[in-house]
Amino acid sequence: MAPTAVETTAVDSLKARLASAALQEVDLRAFPHFDNTPGIGTEFRAGGLQISDVLIDRAKLAALARLVSERGVVFFREADISPEEQKELVQALGEAGGKPATSKLHVHPLTLPGQVDGDEISIISNKFVFGDKFKQSDGDIRNRRLGKDQWHTDITFENVPSDYASLVIHTLPAVGGDTLWASAYEAYDRLSAPLQTFLEGLTAEHSGESFLRLNAAHGGNPVREPRGAPENVGQDLLATHPVIRTNPVTGWKGLFVNKAFTTRIVELTRPESDALLGFLFEHVSANHDIQVRFRWEENSLAIWDNRSTFHAATADLDGVLREGTRSVSLGERPFFDPSSRSRREDLASKAN
Ligand SMILES: [Fe+2]
Repeated sequence: MAPTAVETTAVDSLKARLASAALQEVDLRAFPHFDNTPGIGTEFRAGGLQISDVLIDRAKLAALARLVSERGVVFFREADISPEEQKELVQALGEAGGKPATSKLHVHPLTLPGQVDGDEISIISNKFVFGDKFKQSDGDIRNRRLGKDQWHTDITFENVPSDYASLVIHTLPAVGGDTLWASAYEAYDRLSAPLQTFLEGLTAEHSGESFLRLNAAHGGNPVREPRGAPENVGQDLLATHPVIRTNPVTGWKGLFVNKAFTTRIVELTRPESDALLGFLFEHVSANHDIQVRFRWEENSLAIWDNRSTFHAATADLDGVLREGTRSVSLGERPFFDPSSRSRREDLASKAN
């Protein structure tokens, strides 16, 4: 017999209690680790927690999803992890974080057919996707793009963008090529209350135009679709998202506009939008105390929550190859919950 509505509610409540009990079963902070900065980043020390153990343990996966969402980015130093396992990891973290069943792994619009590690692994390289030249960011020192212009959140031009992502740099320069992450929670917390309130009512357009231009310059074949979720279709690579986004795992509010993909705030005039976005991009890049800088070593692994962080590579490689593999899980359609809290507000109330 089908359960009544009351029984269904009771079952759902039990499931929710079990789920939250599982989250509390494992405290990953019991393993040797340190926080890289007060606001963002946690690193597990060598010889302690192994990512191979996390991959086979549902409770540890759930605890890691929570930790990544709280700290923004988590680093492992001895992660002997294959591209296939990278995919399994971010998919499992997304599921532990409660993502929709239709959201899988992202297929980048410019993924070329027959790529060595398959459609769901992006090769991150300082060489062009098409061809063998180094990107301008790593070319002539006098013509390089400014580091502050590299800040972005992955694939926000998708209707359903990313929750968790992981990166391994397998071809390492002897020095250089660090990656920086910044906290979108801290970016929100540092705004004045009137500006926070104003931004909470706004939406912004995100565009993958840079990829379309690159694609057009190299044959102009249709970009890939669908790209890991039924919502991520179409050739225009355009999406509209709230300017302040609630992270469903932590319940915290974060700034969700980024220099690489956000083109305008929908409700404002063009000059107003340009001025406000310019201020917000500067706010992220200029506050180095909301950032963490990570130096890659062999077998280093970074896992971050794309809903609540920004990141940027460091363009200090003089014609030296830097290459790695990235896997990107797709999460939920971004939303703003007016009853959600800021990170600092929530932590302060828990401390009391
Ligand atoms: Fe990225």
